Amino acid sequence: MATHLKTAPRNTPRAGAERVDARDKVRGATRYAADDARAGLLHAALVPSRIARGTVTVIDTAAAQRVRGVRQVFTHENVGAFDTGGFLMGGGFGFQSFYPLRSPQVAYRGQTVAMVVADTLEAAREAAAMVAVNYAAVPFVAGIDAPDAQPQAQSALLPQPMFADRRAGDAEAALQGAAFTVDASYELPTQHQNPMEIIATVAEWSADGVLTVREPTQNAEGVRHGLAKQLGIEPDKVRVLSPTVGGGFGQKNSLQSHTALVAMAARALGQPVKLVLSRGQLFHNASFRPASRHHVRLGADRSGKLTAAIHEIDQQTSRHDLFPSSGTEITSRLYGISNFLGRERLVRTDVQTPGYMRAPFEHPAAFAFESAVDEMAYALGRDPVAFRLANDTAVDPISGKPFSSRHLAECLVKGSTAFGWARRTMAPRSMRAADGSLIGWGVAAGAYKAAIAPAIAKVRLNANGTVRVAVGGHEMGQGIRTAIALTVARTLGAPVAAVEIVLGDTSAAPQHLTAGSWGTATALPPVQEAAQRLMEDLRQNAGAQTGAQAGANRAPPVPLRPASGRPFAEAESRMRAPGQPEQVFGRLTGGLPAAAGPVYPDFVAFSFIAHFVEVRIEPTTRRIRVPRVLSVADCGTVASLRTARSQVEGGVVWGIGAALREASEVDPRYGGFLNADLAEYVLPVAADIGRIDVDFVGKPDTRLNAMGVKGLGEVAMVGVAPAIVNAVFHATGKRLRRLPLRLEDLLES
Ligand code: MOS
Repeated sequence: MATHLKTAPRNTPRAGAERVDARDKVRGATRYAADDARAGLLHAALVPSRIARGTVTVIDTAAAQRVRGVRQVFTHENVGAFDTGGFLMGGGFGFQSFYPLRSPQVAYRGQTVAMVVADTLEAAREAAAMVAVNYAAVPFVAGIDAPDAQPQAQSALLPQPMFADRRAGDAEAALQGAAFTVDASYELPTQHQNPMEIIATVAEWSADGVLTVREPTQNAEGVRHGLAKQLGIEPDKVRVLSPTVGGGFGQKNSLQSHTALVAMAARALGQPVKLVLSRGQLFHNASFRPASRHHVRLGADRSGKLTAAIHEIDQQTSRHDLFPSSGTEITSRLYGISNFLGRERLVRTDVQTPGYMRAPFEHPAAFAFESAVDEMAYALGRDPVAFRLANDTAVDPISGKPFSSRHLAECLVKGSTAFGWARRTMAPRSMRAADGSLIGWGVAAGAYKAAIAPAIAKVRLNANGTVRVAVGGHEMGQGIRTAIALTVARTLGAPVAAVEIVLGDTSAAPQHLTAGSWGTATALPPVQEAAQRLMEDLRQNAGAQTGAQAGANRAPPVPLRPASGRPFAEAESRMRAPGQPEQVFGRLTGGLPAAAGPVYPDFVAFSFIAHFVEVRIEPTTRRIRVPRVLSVADCGTVASLRTARSQVEGGVVWGIGAALREASEVDPRYGGFLNADLAEYVLPVAADIGRIDVDFVGKPDTRLNAMGVKGLGEVAMVGVAPAIVNAVFHATGKRLRRLPLRLEDLLES
């Protein structure tokens, strides 16, 4: 049977207040670290290693030193001693524990072995190419599938509860007794975030020994404390500024390996120094999404109830660090499967340490698990939406606790109605477009922990009626500045334009790492509480003369001075996650990660999403198009509708990239990454993106925090890839288990 379908016109006018930083961005007025062009600025360029593992034996900088304008070539021989900044997941501050130039050691291809500083960028780059390096190379492991790669149990390598196997019931026994089983393996490649803004660092020392670093980061406090440790100075002598970030996606979530080098060069030369990595250097000097391999086994009974699941994950790490995996954190909670076993293993390879890339574990884990769930639905002959609804749960199978809120079923129901899922015919290859294209409709669910970090917010009303907000948080395009502005404006009854927000400045408020989709739930509740306290203060001290009243849509508070004689009024709020002790503020002010979740004392907290995807596959070439995606998210309160929609659209685009385009290719003979540029690291472009409809459940999660917000930035991507792959199966009857999908995988053999 063939069903003919037309694509409906776009019907998604943008709703919600505009982004507070939109005009500056489109005018090019937003200043990024690399835009710094002040007089006296020196320029740095890095020299990359050409081997994947070994030692620098001879480094000859004489020719480089003779290039006109070169000030200094820094190598491990002359840079001087400096400390490690440590590894974020090992009690330190950096994306990895390895800091180049502390020794002649080479730990991965592309690693910095020297840094040239010159009066001009051209001189620095010319000289960098003239540094001659001899190496003693030793054998290396290029990737997760290398013959000498050795997977090791994470529970043994990292014997802490949060990295342990995840268990409920007896999954092996339940699987053996299951009426229906699925047993399948899935592969995901290494990927790189490739934010538009490349990492750049500008370091400057004042006459009194204060270091100011301008670098796009999601973790200004971590950079500050890491640098202080590395350079052996007090943290109060370091200020880090990251007011706006041109895309983070996890690549900028900790101290970079080169930042101290730039600071040391600026100190040695007595002038500010700027380093801008090249795109290719970004592939080799910053973190990335590790490759992973998944083995999923599912069991179900004849009634269509999932009774057992075993999800085993092998994930790539570096030789020098253990970057932990937590993929089964969500796959153990997507459904009410009472017998679950999640096991994670790590595989050491000779690369820089991989790290967090948008939905770092959740996207790969959901690809594998939600593909397997689709396979099971077909094994049982059940509609994939109905099958998921039948296996929903109100209780977390792992902890036995309730969810703070869970509206996954509503996401599925709302989404299937809006998508027109009832018109789907179950059999593969049963739907065709008028032009002969195979049509496939796929669905998948996603979840992401709703985490919260401690934060301190200050809201100040100035005599001229402007409002200044300082809080921990980093604006990286996700819209946190807009969400804060809307919250303050609503609480104070002030116009959005009167609200100035200071973010990413370690001198204004402690700047906890902004990651893990906890930014909104971390910054908004204390900002709202501080604004409420400010209103209370105004009411008590300035009386009716201020005109200030609680509630939204009131006229802005009039200047304070006539009423109170004060130049400003200020209120502060300190908040931490449910169950966190007061001492957690010490980690916050010390630049250490201090987020809690998803398991809290009285509940577990996750955001949820359901994605519905249509693919059309050209019958001869098998070209896969994605003309429409419809996503419904449960992120609690929607704090800023426009930026929330944009987050989901972005997550869907990322999912399309992950399913159909992106992979960092490794040459096993040389290590490193081959396609280290935007020409060959293939990303989806505008022509690849069809219609994306976004909707929200919009129910506040007031158990989690007073504003009822969960998180959105990462759950948006979770489940997109399996929905696409499930749609490709529906269109073609071929079950593909390796990302990205290749056309040749769909060609008849
Ligand atoms: Mo994000 S990948 O949690 O920085």
